[in-house]
Amino acid sequence: MSVLLGCVAALLIVAQAWLLADVVAEAFLGGRGLDQLGLPMAVLAGVVLMRAAVAWAAELAAARASAQAKSELRGGLLAAGARLAAIGDPRVRSGELAVLASPGIDALDGYFSRYLPQLLLAVIVPIAMVVALLAADWISALIVAFTVPLVPLFMALVGAATREHTEAQLSTLQRLAGHFLDVVAGLQTLKLFGRARAQAHTIGRVTDLYRRRALATLRVTFLSSLILELVATVAVAIVAVAIGIRLMEGSMGLRAGLFALILAPEAYAPLRRVGANYHESAEGMAAAERAFTIIEAAPRRPPGNGRRVPDPSAEPIVLCGIGFAYPQRRSPALSGVSLEVRPGEALGVAGTSGCGKSTMLALLMGLRQPYQGSARIGGLEIGMLDRRAWHARLAWIPQRPHFFGGSIADNVRLGRPGASEAEVWRALDAAGVRDVVRALPLGLDSVLGDGGFGLAAGERQRLALARAFLRDAPLLLLDEPTAGLDGRTEGEVLAAVRRMLVGRTAVVASHRPAVAGLCDRVVTLERQESAT
Ligand SMILES: Nc1ncnc2c1ncn2[C@@H]1O[C@H](COP(=O)(O)OP(=O)(O)OP(=O)(O)O)[C@@H](O)[C@H]1O
Ligand SMILES: [Mg+2]
Repeated sequence: MSVLLGCVAALLIVAQAWLLADVVAEAFLGGRGLDQLGLPMAVLAGVVLMRAAVAWAAELAAARASAQAKSELRGGLLAAGARLAAIGDPRVRSGELAVLASPGIDALDGYFSRYLPQLLLAVIVPIAMVVALLAADWISALIVAFTVPLVPLFMALVGAATREHTEAQLSTLQRLAGHFLDVVAGLQTLKLFGRARAQAHTIGRVTDLYRRRALATLRVTFLSSLILELVATVAVAIVAVAIGIRLMEGSMGLRAGLFALILAPEAYAPLRRVGANYHESAEGMAAAERAFTIIEAAPRRPPGNGRRVPDPSAEPIVLCGIGFAYPQRRSPALSGVSLEVRPGEALGVAGTSGCGKSTMLALLMGLRQPYQGSARIGGLEIGMLDRRAWHARLAWIPQRPHFFGGSIADNVRLGRPGASEAEVWRALDAAGVRDVVRALPLGLDSVLGDGGFGLAAGERQRLALARAFLRDAPLLLLDEPTAGLDGRTEGEVLAAVRRMLVGRTAVVASHRPAVAGLCDRVVTLERQESAT
């Protein structure tokens, strides 16, 4: 669409210049009046209007394309970010991702809606102008043909210098955002250790760095547009002088001279605009590059290809000779693990800290792939199941359940969005936190701070259980449900866990004997010592 409109625009520019030169030459030298020039002037007005319409259509097409490309990229980035976050990849920092996904990718607007269409015009228009000039005045055509390439040449030189600047600017902004989020999240810790002020200094320093980087980029931008304007102006001046001399000598007609004079600046205009838009798009390009590295780093989603997803309440899960190692670690987290989770049983997984219990749960969820052995249900590799459908069959309570800043009801409803209030209360009752919530002045609508701030550890744990109750999935994955709790609170949580295990298949990771006591069977994982 842009190429097509660009060609039409080039033709219209030539037509406009020709009509204008014609009208002026006829009026001055031909001595014609308004009555005789009415028709060409009306045509000229028509051409001007058409140019405006073409410019509008080009802008519209570009804005559409830009919006589509941006939302595609943003979707890809968020999906990749979610996949990396699901396996706890340290490369994902929430603040950086947020900056990339919103202002970063938004900066691509300049690239798609202005730079790219303008780039096409910058190729089409000068060539069309030179051809048109060749027909009217070959000397002007020659001057333009030799000076036009100077503009992209200077642009490339300046561009090489700015590229570094914009990349540095984006990475500073990302660092700032990531750091800021971290600091705000840990504000209490910082305050209590008396480090809040020092952190404020750090943020001030990074902000200052960002400001200086932004100004440096702007400086280069202004300088470069100055250079481009200068080249274009000087070139047009040369054309004008050459035409003026020939007009005085009488070796050139007014019509041809005017035509060349009107057309010459048009040859440089799109190139100058490309130069200006380049800087606007550079920031977006840097963001896009970062986005692509994240998208490429994310593990591919298994195809799932619509095959059936087995039901864990009917078919056993079989792990056979599993070996798994984290890429950053030298020794494997799991090695030669074989076990079976039978339908309806509660399997305890015991072992010292670091023996790979949480890792094994990640494998059962299909978030990690073993390098050796297989994890299957109903003969199908868990990692290859359709992830959404598989996750719909399980409820997972992580070692440190996450709560969002929001009401208790919203946090519990994460288990099953759209659950009625009565269902939420029933889940809270089953998890043994009904009285705790009821005692709060706002009840279900009480607002939790970020990360569940404002609740005791035991209450948080039971709230997480309530979430799982509400989900009511056939397979339950519990990771250290009683870690860090005192005897009495542990008892309360265990009572809730016991209610939860009824009629479900469960894998419970814990090194606490009391938790193991709830299970039908317990397997113990061996810790894999480092080889060195
Ligand atoms: N994201 C990760 N990247 C690299 N190594 C990891 C990662 N998560 C865990 N590990 C390593 O893998 C091993 C097993 O960790 P895992 O969290 O599965 O142990 P765990 O049995 O759940 O321990 P705990 O009882 O303390 O929860 C540990 O040596 C740990 O350092
Ligand atoms: Mg663990």
